[in-house]
Amino acid sequence: MITLFFLILSIFGCSKKKEDEKFVIGFSQCVASDHWRRTMLDEMKMELSLHPATEFLYSDADGNSNRQIKQVREMLRQNIDLLIISPNEAHPLTAVVEEAYNKGIPVIVIDRKTSSPHYTAYVGANNYEIGKMAADYMANAVLKRKGTVAEVMGLPGSSPAIERSKGFTDELKKYPDIKLSFQVYGNWISEGAQKQLYQHAKQLKNVDAIFAHNDVMALASKNVLSNLALDRKTKVIGVDALPGKGAGLELVGDKILTGSLLYPTGGKEAINTAFAILGNKSFARENILQTVVIDSTNVQLMKMQWSRINNQQKDIERQQELLENQLEIYDNQRLVLNVIVITLVLVVVFGGIAFHSLLENRKINKSLELKNSEILSQRNQLIEMSAKAEAATEMKLNFFTNISHEFRTPLTLILSPLEDLLKNEKLRSLAGNNLNLINKNVFRLLKLVNQLIDYRKIEHQKFNLRAAEGNIVAFLRELIENFKHIAKKRNIDLQLLSDKNEIMVWFDANILDKVIFNLLSNALKFTSDNGHIHIRIRAVEAEVEILVEDNGVGMTEDELKNIFDQFYQADSGYSRGSGLGLSLSKELIQLHKGTISVLSKKWEGTTFTVNLPLGNAHLSKPEQDTQQEKRTRLYDQLKIYTTDMEPQQEFRKEEVFNPLKEQSILIIEDNQDLQNYLREKFEYNYEVFTAANVTNGTHEAYEKIPDLIISDVILPDGSGTELANKLKNDFRTSHIPIILLTARGSIEQQINGIQSMADLYLTKPFNFDYLTANVENLIRNRGILKEHYTSDITNTSTKKSTASLLDKKFINDFSGIVEHNLSNEDFSVEDLCKAIGISRIQLYRKVKALLNCSISDYILNRRLKKAKYYLGNEDYSIAEVSYMVGISSATYFSTIFKAKYGVTPSEFKKTR
Ligand code: FRU
Repeated sequence: MITLFFLILSIFGCSKKKEDEKFVIGFSQCVASDHWRRTMLDEMKMELSLHPATEFLYSDADGNSNRQIKQVREMLRQNIDLLIISPNEAHPLTAVVEEAYNKGIPVIVIDRKTSSPHYTAYVGANNYEIGKMAADYMANAVLKRKGTVAEVMGLPGSSPAIERSKGFTDELKKYPDIKLSFQVYGNWISEGAQKQLYQHAKQLKNVDAIFAHNDVMALASKNVLSNLALDRKTKVIGVDALPGKGAGLELVGDKILTGSLLYPTGGKEAINTAFAILGNKSFARENILQTVVIDSTNVQLMKMQWSRINNQQKDIERQQELLENQLEIYDNQRLVLNVIVITLVLVVVFGGIAFHSLLENRKINKSLELKNSEILSQRNQLIEMSAKAEAATEMKLNFFTNISHEFRTPLTLILSPLEDLLKNEKLRSLAGNNLNLINKNVFRLLKLVNQLIDYRKIEHQKFNLRAAEGNIVAFLRELIENFKHIAKKRNIDLQLLSDKNEIMVWFDANILDKVIFNLLSNALKFTSDNGHIHIRIRAVEAEVEILVEDNGVGMTEDELKNIFDQFYQADSGYSRGSGLGLSLSKELIQLHKGTISVLSKKWEGTTFTVNLPLGNAHLSKPEQDTQQEKRTRLYDQLKIYTTDMEPQQEFRKEEVFNPLKEQSILIIEDNQDLQNYLREKFEYNYEVFTAANVTNGTHEAYEKIPDLIISDVILPDGSGTELANKLKNDFRTSHIPIILLTARGSIEQQINGIQSMADLYLTKPFNFDYLTANVENLIRNRGILKEHYTSDITNTSTKKSTASLLDKKFINDFSGIVEHNLSNEDFSVEDLCKAIGISRIQLYRKVKALLNCSISDYILNRRLKKAKYYLGNEDYSIAEVSYMVGISSATYFSTIFKAKYGVTPSEFKKTR
């Protein structure tokens, strides 16, 4: 906006009349102290006032020629456009004036000249003429053609002195009776004239008239004469006739001087000529100013004229001043007008913009208001919906909690009679593992139900801490004791490590035991046999620190991230299960104003750290309970947390009743109960191998080459899907059908399972009969495949196959190698293993699984089939055919051929 303002201002400013061109004029004056020179300068300035843009450089040499040369040089350095000079002496100043002239700077010589014709213009009166006029006037008007005269000259070497003297003496020659008594140089000044005249005092007595080259020296002459009492007799004539006090005109008027020759200064003319030159206008080179003799006859007239001119001049000056003032007012007014116009324009423009913005704003405001009300109603709807959703969730959770409560009674009702049944040895041996399994799982359910209820209590802030001061070391020792026998059975080093026997802490034993049980049971669950679990306890500053450290399977960073999150379940490791245990522990520790954290490294171990504040300053009054509730529930808690871990009592059926099975199944399941259960169920019909993790499972699969694999999806060291992928991509195991079992029931997960190349994906809980049916079906399908590959080589295209591409490739490679070596009698199973690149046992199992026969049976079969083909289709002798299929003994060939096809080779040949 400011830029716009100044732009408009500058446009208006430019409309002002173009200023005069700016010139620099230098004026070098020879001497400035006398009245005549001052008048010259005034005239110049008066004229220059009409050219305000012009710069005027002025210098005064004070009658010194050398100084004047320097001053001119200085002006030339300042790049003057024109030089006006009145040279002190002609000759000394010639060079510098020529220098200026030759540089192309116009030079105006005024009053006095140099000795050179190299100047642009001259302004001044004709001094020779003045000399002549003085002589003429003196001779005729003053002396009546007879008498003696003297001459007081100016400065020797200055042009007016030379010229005036010459004119004067030349003219006098016309008057023989007039005698020139003497000539002296007064150097244009009063003192000079007086000094010289006193030196000629004697001669003065005879002098009738003196011609002084200026009025200053004329007055000095008059004074000398009056001092010598000669003033009455001797007349004096001067030059200049300037108006003003004590000047020539007044001296003539007062009859002090007899006459004076008007010598105009030419200041005004010099400036006019200068502008004509600078403006490239025509100008006169020689500007000769008029002169006249002023004496008693015309002095009054002259004075009158001068005073009129003077008045006029003053009028002009006044008017000029007035004009300047008016111009200034005009300029100011124009500026003000410009500003007003610009402001008006801007007001109109911005007013328009503002009006437009106002309209736009109104529109925007309206649409915003509309949107706002829309958003508001949407927000209200959302609030309403979320309130409903919250209520619904709350209802669901309440229902869930209530149901959980309901579960407790039937569970307890199952537990008590079960305990009775378990006590009965007879029943136990009859039921096998089943009673134990029921017992364990009832406790497991009870644990989950309890945790769920506790969690809901915490959520509703109904879980009240009732802490009392107690020895936490003893408390922990007692709890750990309960796990010792389980640890011992698995050779796990479970110990409490503490420097002190007593550390007093305020805690709620009925709450803290849940946390410790949870941490200990987790540690036991995820630590392998022969491992260690160390519980360290120490007081650190104002806290007690409990570390539960194991060297079990550990967790990855990803698993660690959400370990304390509600309902979070990692794929493997600690938080497998309900996902409530650790989350609940965290809440329970927070009730104690404590913290729980975890450090873990996959395959190295895990350390949980619980920090509890010492003292009771952090507990509110109701939280401090001196008469603490008796720990009646410890037994329950213990059972809940430990029954799960009790090693399974083996009720294996006698091996005698377990005949050798044709087919085998590998079960990979880390839940020992489920693994046992499945093993027991399948053991009747299949040879069963087991493994509890991916590593062992993979190893077993390669070792045993089972006929089918059942694997859990979530395993401690990886997933069943990974395992399936691995086995299906290895040609040693690619033919084995795989069934994946998991608790994860979503369709995506099932698809994921199937994509992993598993043959079937079953979600827990599954129906065992359904599983068995699938196992049988998958094994039967393998049988169809075997049929296909062991059938006649000429008939390979029709039967439907379920073999994987890898199996087909294996069979192609295998049969190809056999086919290629059929004529080689020495071709052995070892050769075949080498050619395929697997061990004899692996090849044996693979061939057995895919083709249902031994390798040597297969080779022999191929030989006989080829022989049958040759006998039926080609014209070879029986001996030749026998040789071609790698059987050197013809009798042996005949025997086995008959055994296979019911006819001897020769009989077969005949019938074709
Ligand atoms: C002034 C003056 C005049 C004279 C002129 C000659 O300095 O002496 O009186 O006419 O110079 O240059």
